[in-house]
Order: sequence, then structure tokens, then C-alpha cells
Amino acid sequence: MKRKTLISALSAVALVTSAGLAHAENKGEVEVLHWWTSGGEAKSAAVLKVMLEQQGYGWKDFAVAGGGGESAMTVLKTRAVSGNPPAAAQIKGHDIQEWADLGFLTTLDDTASSENWEKVLPKVVTNVMKYEGNYVAVPVNVHRVNWLWANPAVFEKAGAKVPTTWDEFIAAAEKIKAAGYIPLAHGGQAWQDATVFEAVALETMGTELYLKAFKQHDPDALGSPEMVKTFEKFRQLKQYIDKDSPGRDWNIATNMVIEGKAAMQIMGDWAKGEFAAAGKTPGVDYICAPAPGTAGMFTFNIDSFAFFKLNDANDAAAQKTLAKTILSPKFQEVFNLNKGSIPVRLDQDMSPFDQCALDSMATFKSANKSGDLVPSWSHGLATTSQIQGAIYDVVTNYFNDDKVTADATVDKLVRAVKAAM
Ligand code: GAL
Repeated sequence: MKRKTLISALSAVALVTSAGLAHAENKGEVEVLHWWTSGGEAKSAAVLKVMLEQQGYGWKDFAVAGGGGESAMTVLKTRAVSGNPPAAAQIKGHDIQEWADLGFLTTLDDTASSENWEKVLPKVVTNVMKYEGNYVAVPVNVHRVNWLWANPAVFEKAGAKVPTTWDEFIAAAEKIKAAGYIPLAHGGQAWQDATVFEAVALETMGTELYLKAFKQHDPDALGSPEMVKTFEKFRQLKQYIDKDSPGRDWNIATNMVIEGKAAMQIMGDWAKGEFAAAGKTPGVDYICAPAPGTAGMFTFNIDSFAFFKLNDANDAAAQKTLAKTILSPKFQEVFNLNKGSIPVRLDQDMSPFDQCALDSMATFKSANKSGDLVPSWSHGLATTSQIQGAIYDVVTNYFNDDKVTADATVDKLVRAVKAAM
């Protein structure tokens, strides 16, 4: 998205939003763009709609299917450039800065101060929500990305043990394959390839080198022997994935684990939302464990909504109520129970949450102290959308072409990141 193109497009069209419409039947309305369309995700989004409506405001759902949100972001750009953005959109990480920099977003500072966001939210979260010191987005949750989801019944039938290290993972995968099950459920889409690659990188590189490569974009870290090793290990995973994986949605892959067709999935804890929606119990029907070799480490992905400037006062009031509702303890509880993530409030009562969420919260806090809390680049928290896209391409092309070597790919990675900077 080029700044100039966007600005000229904007000045050419009047900024017409849904705000121009009268909503006699309620106090104001928000149109909300998001990509939460899987079973667990849709249940979670519905919580927000209901809570807003209970307060007399309208919710116009603008869901764009597609895990990871790439399609949603494309649609959002089109709508914004034509001068018709929604009131709120699920925008994360660096994208928040990019949209704010273009002048699209409204400030939430008054709500933030009346609701005490500075006090109730961790700094690692508020940093992402602010542009030039002002709140322009509201956080919904914290997702941990480096998780392994496992079906214990399949493990038992295969005589395998849920792995904690990379070597154990390979040993378990071999046994599961020999027993006639799919070891790793995966959907061949660029963002899912990137999600798995990220977990392998964390295991192989450790947090320090991970940050150097994916956050600071140090060419030595990007071109390091550890990066070559990461690509090699990543390719090793292919033999444990079934041939129907290309194009498969992530929640379909989760379902393969739920149904016992596959033993494991490496995916963020939105996968837990699918297990929950299917009525499954953690520790009984499924296991959540850190992705192999990443115990104590935490790749964070924070979902958030950014708010666009509106002209209609009623709709702006609806926006503010939405922001306030998102951070209310009640919403944080119900939403995150459905979504698989952990609440973003530091003072949240965690007693209704399961062991996976408690583990996630404990690791979030301990990793924050030890320096093992790192932003997920594959979900937009570590770098710009341009650099993220460049890395996606390199990772996914490598995964889909066995003729390309890890060495050549790492060279390509260094050049691609440089070009996108
Ligand atoms: C992530 C998002 C999650 C989840 C996932 C799959 O990027 O942060 O909330 O929805 O995509 O769609």
C-alpha cells in the first residue's frame, strides 16, 4: 500500500462511512470487519455482537473468510481507498502503525484513560496499540502461536509419546505413520506454512537469534547456519503431512486431529477454540503442549480492533462502547474461553479457564521476565506487512519445491527481506 496512492485516492473521494446513515432503531451502529469465520472464531465474534446489542447499539457484521486475515486485509484496503471504511476492523501489530500513519484511525485516548488501560494492560500489549503515544486500537486477547495440539488416543494406538523435543517429534511421527495415521495435520497455505516454520525457527534458533532475524532483520542472523538448519528441519516435516494438504483451511486440519485421523497440529491456540466448539476437554480428548523444543518460550499474537474516523456522533458513541466492552472482564472471559486465547487484562480472574490457558498465562508472564516472549512475525507482530509477505513467499516456495536447497533459500531470504525494507 503506497502512502501517496492512498492519500490521493482519499482526497479525491469524500469520506463517506456508514456514519452518514440514520439509525432510528438504535443509538448508533458499528460495522465490524474481521476474519473470524471458523466454528470457534464465529462463536467468539458473536459474543461481542450480543454484548454491544445489549447496550442498544447496532452491529453490522463484515466477516471476510480466510485464516490469518490476508483476504480480510485486501478487502479492507479496497474499502478504505474508496472512502468507505468500516467503523472497526481487526487490524494487528505493525499494520496498526501503518493505518494510523496514513491518517485513517481515530484516537481512543479518552476511553483508555476513563477505563484505566494503562493500569490493567501489560506494556508489551499497550506498545502495539499506540501510535505516537496515542491509543488507536484496542486489544482483544493474547494468542500463543507456538503450540502443539495432539490426539492422545492416536498416540496410544501408535505406542508413541507426545514429543517435547524435535528428536522426540520425529520419533513419534515415525511411529504414528507406521501405525497408519497422519502424523501432522497441516493446511498448505502460505500463512500456515509460515506459522509452522516460525515454531521450527524458535526451536532451532532460540529467542535471541529469532529476534535478530525476524524483528531486527540483521542479515547475519537471516543468513545464519541456524536459519539453514531451520529450513532443513522444516522440509523434514513434509513426509508427515498427507497429500491432500494443499489449500486446506487450518480449522479443517484441526478437525483431523479432533476426529483422530491425524495425531498432531502445530498451530496457535485459536485451534483450541475448535476443540472447545466440538465439545472436547483438554487433557482428556486432546493435549496442548509447547511446540517441540519451545517450552518456556512464547511467540505472541495479539488480536485487536482499530477504529476508523467517523462523522456520525451516534456511530462514534457506538465505537466507544465497543472499545469499552472489549476490555470488560465479562467479555474477556466469555470471548477468550471460546477463542482459545488468554485475556489481555492483568487483573482477570482466571478461575474459569482450563489448564492450557493457565499454562499459556504462566508462560506469558515468565517469558516476559526471561526475555523469551517474542512477537510472532507470521502473524504480523514483529515486522511490517511488506517484510512479512516477503518471508511468506520464500518459506512457502521452498516448502512447495523440493528441488530448491536450504542454502539457496537462505540467500534468497536475506535478499528478499532487504528489498522489502
Ligand atoms: C490469526 C488471528 C487469530 C486467528 C487466526 C486464524 O492471525 O490472530 O485470531 O483467527 O488468525 O484465523
